[in-house]
Amino acid sequence: MSADSSTSKETVNPTVDGSELIRFDKVTKRFGSHVVLDELDFSVASGKHVTLIGPSGSGKTTILRLLMTLMKPEEGTIKVGGEYLTHETKNGKLVPASEKYTREVRKNIGMVFQQFNLFPNMKVLRNITEAPVQVLGLSKDEAEQRARELLELVGLTEHIDKYPSQLSGGQQQRVAIARALAMRPQVLLLDEVTSALDPELVAGVLDVLRDIAHTTDITMLCVTHEMNFARDISDQVLMFDSGRVIEAGTPEKIFTEPEHERTREFLSAVL
Ligand SMILES: Nc1ncnc2c1ncn2[C@@H]1O[C@H](COP(=O)(O)OP(=O)(O)OP(=O)(O)O)[C@@H](O)[C@H]1O
Ligand SMILES: [Mg+2]
Repeated sequence: MSADSSTSKETVNPTVDGSELIRFDKVTKRFGSHVVLDELDFSVASGKHVTLIGPSGSGKTTILRLLMTLMKPEEGTIKVGGEYLTHETKNGKLVPASEKYTREVRKNIGMVFQQFNLFPNMKVLRNITEAPVQVLGLSKDEAEQRARELLELVGLTEHIDKYPSQLSGGQQQRVAIARALAMRPQVLLLDEVTSALDPELVAGVLDVLRDIAHTTDITMLCVTHEMNFARDISDQVLMFDSGRVIEAGTPEKIFTEPEHERTREFLSAVL
């Protein structure tokens, strides 16, 4: 629970109902003079599935990378589960978070990348057990039990003893999904996880993700060009442009009657 009782001025914020799990508050991210995120405000309620759409370069990956603490915002704050991600309070003051603090908060967040990023020198089983053992302190047996359940979920039980290089891209991506879930994260970040796959392998990965979306209470923040998938799993779609959310709504609303001209243009180019 949040111990924060700040009464800072509310900003326009496409909040979905329910308890808030992720909150971006006036987050600005710059690369040199290039402002990628411009005082971005948005929040995601616990258990919801939110899809980020928007033109290339609009900052979607940057948002996920900030949440994974792979980079830091220049201004503003990010909270996950009521805890600041890149700041901590010391003597009533907000200061940049220590590495140790950040590592703790990050345990709640899992990410799957476009390029799988499996450990090439480890077999499938160990790819999945490594972080639960090293980071969460699970015993090898507990971690293997968890890994076997997850491999069943993603349909890869028979590949448990293979190296990533012995698997197809779709199979590798399903291992990467199992690996992320093995940490039992509250939040799963998915960044175009099917765009590096051969077309015939996309459906299998999306089916696994649909299954996770429909059968678990994991909060999902997803960047995808698969609009049918986004429509199936999303509670809310956020349209980004020029570093801000310019439109937010249910998939029905955004995909069938978008209000913003930029959203209409974008969708007519990708649908
Ligand atoms: N490490 C970096 N250094 C400098 N500029 C960066 C860096 N990372 C991202 N950018 C810039 O920030 C902007 C947003 O990038 P980001 O990857 O978040 O876009 P995106 O919405 O994910 O785009 P795409 O749909 O093409 O994946 C781009 O203009 C990009 O060039
Ligand atoms: Mg991207």
